[in-house]
Amino acid sequence: MAYNVLVMAEVEPYRTILPMIEEQCRVVRWHPDDDAWRAELGDIDGIYVYAHIKVGPELMDSMPKLKVISNFGVGVDHVDLAAAQQRGIPVGNTPNVLDGATADITFALLLAGARNIVKGDHFARGPNFVEYDPSFMLGQEVHHQTLGIVGLGNIGYQVARRAQGFDMTVLYHNRNRNAQAEAELGVRYVSLDELLAQSDFVALNMPLTDETRGMIGRRELALMKESAVLVNAARGGVIDHEALLQTLQAGKLHAAALDVTEPEPLPRDHPLFALDNVIIIPHLGSATEQTRQAMSDRSVGNLLAGLEGKELLSRII
Ligand code: DGY
Repeated sequence: MAYNVLVMAEVEPYRTILPMIEEQCRVVRWHPDDDAWRAELGDIDGIYVYAHIKVGPELMDSMPKLKVISNFGVGVDHVDLAAAQQRGIPVGNTPNVLDGATADITFALLLAGARNIVKGDHFARGPNFVEYDPSFMLGQEVHHQTLGIVGLGNIGYQVARRAQGFDMTVLYHNRNRNAQAEAELGVRYVSLDELLAQSDFVALNMPLTDETRGMIGRRELALMKESAVLVNAARGGVIDHEALLQTLQAGKLHAAALDVTEPEPLPRDHPLFALDNVIIIPHLGSATEQTRQAMSDRSVGNLLAGLEGKELLSRII
C-alpha cells in the first residue's frame, strides 16, 4: 500500500468510508485511550477526521510525512486551520453536498419549535390527552412571518429558499453582503441587533470561528421577541448556553430548537433537559443516507487527491 492514513474516529465511520480508503491505503486507527497508533506517526501520510476529533499543531508536527488532512463534514472548527496553513498542509472538507439536508433540518426545527410538535407528541401519548381542546398548545404562525438567518453561506441560502415557500420575509446577517442572494431571493441585509429584534424566527447557520463563538449571548437573547423561536443548526459554541437556559427558564422565548449544543452531548443531567420550551436533537443536520454517502465520497476523494499531491475536490485552506 502506497500510503498510511491515520483515521481519527471515536465511533465506527459511515459504512463505505473504510473500504474506500483501504482500497488504496493502509489504515492506522487512532484511539483516545490506547496509544499504540503513536508508534506509527513517523509513517503517516494523511489524516482522515470523522466526527469532530481535535487536530492540533502538536499532532501535525509528529508526522513529518503528513500531506493532507481530510475532514468528514463542512465544519472544521476542531482542526487548527492556522497551524495547517503554516505547515502547508491542505485541509479538505465537504461543502455543498450537505446544504439541502442541513437546510431541511433547520426548517424542520423551525416548524417543530413554532408548532409544538415535540411537546404535542409527548402529550398525545400521555395519560392527560383524554379530550380534544382547541385552546391548548397554541403555537406561532410560520407563514408570512419574518425569518432572520445568521450566516448566509451555502446552507443559509438554501434555508432562505425554503422560506420563500412559506411566504416569509427574510432578513440576514453575514460577514459580507450577498448581492446575488439579495437579487435572487429578495433577502434583506441588516445588523445582527436589527435581525434579532425584528425576526419571528432566528436561524443560526454560520460556522464556528473566533468571531462567532458566543455570538448569541445574554444581550442578544434579550433583543429577541418573546414569541420568537431560535434555531441552531450551526455549532453549539455560537450560543452562550447559560444565557439561553436562563432566557428559556424565564419564558422569554417561545422556543429554542437545537441540532447542536456545547458541550456535545450535554451532560445527561443538564438543566436544559428539564424545560419543555426547548427541542434538542443529536446533531442530525446532514444525517440522511444520501448526504452521508455524498460526504463520504467527497471526503475520501479529498484524502486520496491530497495523498497524490493533487488539488483537493474541496478544501477550506
Ligand atoms: C458538518 O458537516 O460540519 C456537520 O456538522 C457534520 O460534521
